[in-house]
Amino acid sequence: MKNIVILISGRGSNMQAIVDTAQKENWAVNIAAVVSNRPNAEGLAFARERNIPVAVVDHDAYASRVEFDSALQCVLDQFSPDYVILAGFMRILTPEFVLHYKNRLLNIHPSLLPLFPGLHTHRQALAAGVLEHGATVHWVTEILDHGPILMQAKVPVLPEDTEASLAARVLEQEHILYPKALRLLLEKKDDA
Ligand code: GRF
Repeated sequence: MKNIVILISGRGSNMQAIVDTAQKENWAVNIAAVVSNRPNAEGLAFARERNIPVAVVDHDAYASRVEFDSALQCVLDQFSPDYVILAGFMRILTPEFVLHYKNRLLNIHPSLLPLFPGLHTHRQALAAGVLEHGATVHWVTEILDHGPILMQAKVPVLPEDTEASLAARVLEQEHILYPKALRLLLEKKDDA
């Protein structure tokens, strides 16, 4: 059985979608922990309710990115993760950290990469005037939001869209996309 650890920074709705889908579909996976860099991340309550081990590595307690990442790595490795799932984890990771989890580190980004890396992706999409927008599940590499793409979901951009309405339409797809990509990956690896 594979171990996965899910990293969050806030609401954790993608983490919840993964946990719910894994339970509903009886995945052969152990959600070993949910880890947050913010002690007050809303998603932690959900994880606790589901009896998933929870850990907090507060980035404010560390003087540098390198020190934070190495503390985070120590915590994560206690759970022997086969995959580390970034789900709204709002920290840029050091190349050392990324390398340590090479081929094990996944992220979801709210745009159709390679379009609109970085922050405020829905604002960027509206400003660019694209007719389609969406979300991407990708492997994490040293270059932010540039790793190989596993799967994408598209949504239309409507004339009346605001940043909020577009974000909500994309998020709804994220909740389908991330579990779907992860399920495929777990199935593939198990077959190998
Ligand atoms: C999602 O839109 C995700 O793509 C982005 O941050 C948001 C996190 O939402 N990286 P949640 O914490 O999963 O609810």
